Amino acid sequence: MLFSTEPKTSLDELFDREVEVERFRSGLNERLVLVLGIRRVGKSSLVLSVLNSLGIDYVFIDVRKLYDNVSRKVPAGRIYNELMSSLGMLSFWERIKGVINEIDVSLGPIKFRLAASRIRDGIARILETINSAGSHVVLAFDEAQYLRYSTIGLRPLLAYAYDYLRNITFVLTGSEVGHLHDFLGLNDSSSELYGRYYFIIELRPFDRERSIEFLRRGFRELGINVDDKVIERAADELGGIAGWLVYFGGFTPRRVRTRLTRLRRSVPT
Ligand SMILES: Nc1ncnc2c1ncn2[C@@H]1O[C@H](COP(=O)(O)OP(=O)(O)OP(=O)(O)O)[C@@H](O)[C@H]1O
Ligand SMILES: [Mg+2]
Repeated sequence: MLFSTEPKTSLDELFDREVEVERFRSGLNERLVLVLGIRRVGKSSLVLSVLNSLGIDYVFIDVRKLYDNVSRKVPAGRIYNELMSSLGMLSFWERIKGVINEIDVSLGPIKFRLAASRIRDGIARILETINSAGSHVVLAFDEAQYLRYSTIGLRPLLAYAYDYLRNITFVLTGSEVGHLHDFLGLNDSSSELYGRYYFIIELRPFDRERSIEFLRRGFRELGINVDDKVIERAADELGGIAGWLVYFGGFTPRRVRTRLTRLRRSVPT
């Protein structure tokens, strides 16, 4: 359903973006891929749809979920925990399960109170274990600029994985592009990641024509006939941002009708 508010997870559901899909696919042969774009433009949808379409092993972590509002940090234990709980999805999980459990046990039951360096070692060992399984794995961190709040320095770990763990491709999405670049420091000579090559995909809002098509298609799916003037006006106002087009479409035909009635009244005939 085009107007569904969750990120799309399959190419069948994804509107347009053929160029970005192809670019992202080819980027997955690289070590580090950045998917950038303003809020609600469709970053998570692109990443999830393409990864699912390829049927490859991946881990997808929304870093916002790990952010602690009280301490204003992303606790290292949460990253570790999230990574651990995602591993069961990997096709080769049975092969690495024993080693992963050993790592977990070696960190002990009070692992979240452990020194940051031990948690970092734990994460490094998990990455090494994934890498040693021999399959290509994508590790996607959604809204990765939040990693700058991590209670452990993740940059050295990323640099290590970039240089030595050749079976892992990192995908980082970011809506706060400046913060993401600051965190990675790819152009900053004091950063461990300095000078590493990265593949970049910038998602732009849809142009007017595509926004109109998006809305038409969405309403058609809902079985609602909407006046062209209303659609054009909405396309002009919503700036081609997929999330806002979806929001305009609304959850239910009833809500859509209410909104349309209001909008119709404001459109000069
Ligand atoms: N190409 C697309 N085709 C259909 N729907 C899309 C497309 N891109 C985004 N959407 C829809 O727009 C909304 C926002 O998409 P998504 O969550 O992927 O964007 P985002 O850039 O990750 O947003 P955020 O910055 O909030 O994380 C969702 O409802 C999603 O289903
Ligand atoms: Mg997102």
